[in-house]
Amino acid sequence: MTRYHGMILSAILFFCAFNAAGADEKPVYKALNCGICHKADTGKTYPSLIEITKAYNGDKDMLIKYFQGKSEPIMNIEKAKSMEKYLEKTKALSEDELNSLVEFILSHEEE
Ligand code: HEC
Repeated sequence: MTRYHGMILSAILFFCAFNAAGADEKPVYKALNCGICHKADTGKTYPSLIEITKAYNGDKDMLIKYFQGKSEPIMNIEKAKSMEKYLEKTKALSEDELNSLVEFILSHEEE
């Protein structure tokens, strides 16, 4: 490998490491596929992350309880069935994973 190629390779590796570190809370949300229904700011059929942030008004504990199946939904109760399968997934998360998920969701304040 030439010196030039070595430099490019280091740059790529650095970029990947940097990206992984910068992604912080998103992995749980991504891994559970929540984003196929919930978008950051467009909520037609499904509440957007901004709407969820508003409804929960920064109350992390309450959102954690909801994800643990210990409290009822407060937003769109008629459509609550769509979330059942996903609540089974959030119930299985560790405390750390739940915390980062909730932190990620509640970071969507309206501008
Ligand atoms: C198949 C589509 C779908 C997927 C996938 C989905 N949701 Fe939902 N979600 C909904 C619908 C519909 C509602 C509105 C019903 C309700 O509020 O219970 C909702 C409501 C919510 C709410 C508001 C609950 C409340 O208090 O009313 C939160 C928070 C939420 N989803 C988080 C998540 C997370 C986190 C994931 C991934 C684990 C996820 N959703 C995956 C469809 C989905």
